[in-house]
Amino acid sequence: MENAEKTLEVINDLIEINNDRVEGFEKAGRDLEGQDSGLTAVFNKLAGESRQNARELSALAQQYGGEAASGTSTSGALHRAWMDIKSTFTGSDLAAVLNECERGEDAIKSAYKDALEENDLEPELAEMLQKQQQGITEGHDLIKSMRDQAERSRDRFSEGNTGQYQDAASNSPELEDAEQEEAYQHEQTSGGANSKLMEFFIDELKDLFWAENELVDTLPDMAEAATSQELKTAFTNHLAETEVHVSRLEKIFGILGLEPDTTKCDAMAGIVDEGDSIISNTEEGTAQRDVGLIFAGQKAEHYEIASYGGMVSLAKTLGYYEIAELLVLTLDEEKTADGLLTEIAENHVNYDAGHEPSDD
Ligand SMILES: [Fe+2]
Ligand SMILES: [Fe+2]
Repeated sequence: MENAEKTLEVINDLIEINNDRVEGFEKAGRDLEGQDSGLTAVFNKLAGESRQNARELSALAQQYGGEAASGTSTSGALHRAWMDIKSTFTGSDLAAVLNECERGEDAIKSAYKDALEENDLEPELAEMLQKQQQGITEGHDLIKSMRDQAERSRDRFSEGNTGQYQDAASNSPELEDAEQEEAYQHEQTSGGANSKLMEFFIDELKDLFWAENELVDTLPDMAEAATSQELKTAFTNHLAETEVHVSRLEKIFGILGLEPDTTKCDAMAGIVDEGDSIISNTEEGTAQRDVGLIFAGQKAEHYEIASYGGMVSLAKTLGYYEIAELLVLTLDEEKTADGLLTEIAENHVNYDAGHEPSDD
């Protein structure tokens, strides 16, 4: 009985702090209203995740025969950070708003960590919390990197001016005139949208769009050529992900008000050619062919990881947070695909190939 009460307490605390987070992000979104930075989309997404977390936790509370909490938290040091946010947002200063959000994200992150450190958690609850914790950690890391970027951007801007408002955690700076205010907001929300950097970003986007489309054509051939079922499945699954990567890039072009366009990516074309020669230089049905295909696949993944990693940083510098978020999703999938290929190689493919006789 005592354990059931404890379980319900853990669940209800987390429901409340998720509700705090929803309110915090909604408030943050309203404070930035009118700034076309795409940040509101990120806030909405994270608020949506917390709404889903609260729903899942409520269902579990009812399953344990208890009553699920429905409001936000009213006490507890742990919940203070989000509570503070609700009262300390002060306007449209991007770095200040993100700084408050980051403190809230710290609070929910430690709430999940503390909950998971409780003894005797029901296995079902522990599993749910671990899954939710992953999303919370990713949300925290994203907000933190955006906050750091916004602060760097503000600090650089202030260095280039009269040296006022150096305190990164301070609120919106006192600016001398409307023109300076506009320049400051521009720097904060869309840093250099007409710059050479923006041109480069769009060129790289076209490059990636070509590369992803090329992989949509190539991955089925790689799956067909592979010997082991495990590798065939890995390529087929990554084909489905790659189709999503293509559509995410289309969405990004759309956000920028552009039609999707390609520039031939010589690097990916070379990697694909290399894959083709591996297929023609290895014998069908051998583990050696799989070794070669895994090499080709990982070269493609590493090219994508390098490109997407750089593009995430550029998107943040340029103030396109919604785009950064989309690129992070793809980047994570590329890393997972790469890790899976290493696993397949090390599980058996490399070993099996080492036991195949050479031709001479
Ligand atoms: Fe991809
Ligand atoms: Fe990929």
